[in-house]
Amino acid sequence: MRTTAAVDLGDPDLYTTLDRHHRWRELALEDAMVWSEPGSSPGGFWSVFSHQACAAVLAPSAPFTSEYGMMIGFDRDHPDNSGGQMMVVSEQEQHRKLRKLVGPLLSRASARKLSERVRTEVRGVLDRALDGEVCDVAAAIGPRIPAAVVCEILGVPVEDQDMLIDLTNHAFGGEDELFDGMTPRQAHTEILVYFDELVGARRESPGEDLVSTLLSDDSLSIDDVVLNCDNVLIGGNETTRHAITGAVHAFATVPGLLSAVRDGGADVDTVVDEVLRWTSPAMHVLRVSTGEVTINGRDLAPGTPVVAWLPAANRDPAVFDDPDTFRPDRKPNRHIAFGHGMHHCLGSALARIELAVVLREVAERVSRVDLVREPSWLRAVVVQGYRELPVRFAGR
Ligand code: HEM
Repeated sequence: MRTTAAVDLGDPDLYTTLDRHHRWRELALEDAMVWSEPGSSPGGFWSVFSHQACAAVLAPSAPFTSEYGMMIGFDRDHPDNSGGQMMVVSEQEQHRKLRKLVGPLLSRASARKLSERVRTEVRGVLDRALDGEVCDVAAAIGPRIPAAVVCEILGVPVEDQDMLIDLTNHAFGGEDELFDGMTPRQAHTEILVYFDELVGARRESPGEDLVSTLLSDDSLSIDDVVLNCDNVLIGGNETTRHAITGAVHAFATVPGLLSAVRDGGADVDTVVDEVLRWTSPAMHVLRVSTGEVTINGRDLAPGTPVVAWLPAANRDPAVFDDPDTFRPDRKPNRHIAFGHGMHHCLGSALARIELAVVLREVAERVSRVDLVREPSWLRAVVVQGYRELPVRFAGR
């Protein structure tokens, strides 16, 4: 293990080129532990990169909590206001209660029911994309599908869905200057205002949606309801859009993938896992230690923030052969793109089904995907995401 004092790893400028993978690989190989001085975060934080170290920090038995926040910038002295209320930043009783309430709405069975909606969305976006013009997958395809799915889960009435999908696209389009007009933060605030109204409407006439389900638990405040709708909105949109865009990127760059998915030569579920490993859209998760703990040979005092870099773990050469290569038949594939431990992604079944439908529908409708330019990447640390992926589709 190497302990390095390094640049501030919370600086989003570090992640806008593919060099990030070379740096992460080196750090994972050395099982490095890196301290970032205060800068992007008020008090500094440790980082781990190897698969074993990331899994150790996130393990259910590890003395770490999410309750102070799960992203760089939060720590014990600067906690996330949603801590203890929103699922991803709550622990113990509140966390168990929320997972039990929300889980059935995101289960494999519910996901299967939603797959028809996903298929309709994919067909709709492909109809528009198959016009021979250059299509920016990151804007035209990736975002639309998860936003539509989350609207269904939340029970957003059909007449409001286009508006909410647009707002969602603005809110999660990245922090750079890509979207004019409304800032991402303003768009997100608009969504929270909309949720307030939706909560009012569902109180009057409950349905089988997420809002109604959360409202049915008397122990949750209205604040809790809105925050947890937001958790599903963020969880469902911010990451899945980049995995979907990455699936099309793989079609454009991995020889034979398109025809293998079409004619059954590739197992779609195995390809989905490789898309998740290769794209790893959730870039980091943060935890704060709750007791004394030793990570990679270093003793940490209670209250120490530690960041696990998931894309680094998912390309750790100690676990994955030839980690930069997209291998459609990679098995086993012990990626931790959905995290690990108590907060393992509750929407993973849904995300997998979204990806499988996208892979199958694109393979069915498209004979070639040609990359027009190399993708550009978001200037972000929370998600590893596509800023732009211009391709040209040829129909079948
Ligand atoms: C949690 C990744 C899709 C809802 C997480 C976590 C990760 C993750 C890494 C753990 C965060 C932590 O440990 O602090 C992903 C990726 C996705 C995806 C890579 C797509 C490719 C979805 C979808 C939904 C969703 C589609 C819902 C519609 C959630 C929720 C949590 C969560 C509610 C909190 C679980 C808890 O705290 O127990 N996700 N996610 N995610 N995700 Fe996802």
